[in-house]
Amino acid sequence: MEPFQSSNTADFTKKFVILGMIFLLSTLVLGLVGALEYIFPGLLKDFFSFEKNRPMHVSAAIFWILSAALGSVLYFLKEHNHAELKHENLVKLMFYILGFTFVIILITYAFGIFGGREYWEFHPALSIPITVGWSLFIFVFLSNFKSLKNQPIYIWMWFTGAVFFLFTYLESNLWLIPEVRNHLVKDMTIQWKSYGSLVGSWNMLIYGSSIYLMDKISGNKKYSFSNIAFWIFFLGLFNLMFNWGHHIYTLPTQPYVKHIGYLVSMTELLLFGRIIYLWKSSLDTAKKFSHIESYRFLLAADVWVFLNLGLAIAMSVPAINLYMHGTHVVVGHTMGATIGINSMLLLAFIANIFGKNKTGEKTVKTGFWLLNISLFVFWIMLITTGFIKTYWMHKRPDFIYTELINNLRPYFYVFFVSGLVMTIGFVMIIFSLLKRAVAKIANTDKQ
Ligand code: HEM
Repeated sequence: MEPFQSSNTADFTKKFVILGMIFLLSTLVLGLVGALEYIFPGLLKDFFSFEKNRPMHVSAAIFWILSAALGSVLYFLKEHNHAELKHENLVKLMFYILGFTFVIILITYAFGIFGGREYWEFHPALSIPITVGWSLFIFVFLSNFKSLKNQPIYIWMWFTGAVFFLFTYLESNLWLIPEVRNHLVKDMTIQWKSYGSLVGSWNMLIYGSSIYLMDKISGNKKYSFSNIAFWIFFLGLFNLMFNWGHHIYTLPTQPYVKHIGYLVSMTELLLFGRIIYLWKSSLDTAKKFSHIESYRFLLAADVWVFLNLGLAIAMSVPAINLYMHGTHVVVGHTMGATIGINSMLLLAFIANIFGKNKTGEKTVKTGFWLLNISLFVFWIMLITTGFIKTYWMHKRPDFIYTELINNLRPYFYVFFVSGLVMTIGFVMIIFSLLKRAVAKIANTDKQ
């Protein structure tokens, strides 16, 4: 598979990826402020309280994932087609609509303007440009291939992810209808169902790009037409429709819904972990070394798939699931997946997109190790504090909250320090990649 070399310097697919990296930097800074607010409760409460900072951090993290995933999918689609994208002017429009809306959302949070639901806490009016921007993405995507017949699995995954994201995003806004909002169980079920599916949809975009990248590095289409890839696709599809089951343990629904949801989401992760493992074993040394940065990030994602799978299995035990709701175990699960799996994979794509120029190769390598080692400590700290909180809530129901926080403070310090080292690791990687990106866009990258 000979890669397509774009000569387009005003390429908005790359600009999407760069925008994503800027959101990643904001996520890290806001995350550190949040960690400081754990250690010193009430810090900055008059103008930048935890209630403001948390949604800003979480939204910036989502915008990092979405922007980088959109840019990578469109960039790889171009390579797949061996041609520039049709309707580039719409990609530009989509970039401005989504980019502008994401920035406005963060600014409105800073001014204390809310109105949405958890994870999407911005004013519902801002859902309109998001819907328009995403619809443009679907239109551009659909105009850039003729049929789904005989297409590699990543095209199916991108197609499914693009369409389902829009559908489930609209679904997540159904609470705006009084009929839904006034019925608690219905409202919560729809909310968690749509959130599970939204994550499933962006995973389709990201897993599809991973399979594309693995084949690109191998120089053949072995994995994108393999049986295991088709299994991942079908499980992923089933998963994005039904994985919400495990988010609603506390709601009165049929137990089989929850169990099927869990089983499928874990099987999908297992297969995805296995495909990277098989790919790694089949890759010869020359290819490994000529794509060493993407290779490292893919392998790191693989390790994080298995670590998160271990945690998910523990969390799937209904007795444990019931108790760890609302604790840091859940935060560990979410951040473990969004940093360990999603972010590592996105960095693998970005290293490939801007990778020919090897500026800062050593810095990226050091950053990679700092990031992964500190992330492990960070993740363990979240799980540990989660279990300690659970223990207090159930074994010492008469506890005083400040006493619990004082007991947790040493863990919060380790959480902050590991988060700081993780941020340093990320920054080393991001700045090196941004330098390459600027060189590529300015067309000074002659390699
Ligand atoms: C790529 C980087 C990061 C991503 C993608 C990310 C993602 C997330 C997500 C999705 C949540 C919501 C968790 C949930 O509700 O279950 C979260 C919460 C949080 N994150 Fe991060 N995060 C990142 C880096 C950091 C860093 C470096 C720190 C600082 C040490 C940090 C500190 C926090 C804090 C304090 C919360 C709030 C947890 C709570 O509600 O108690 N994050 N993050």
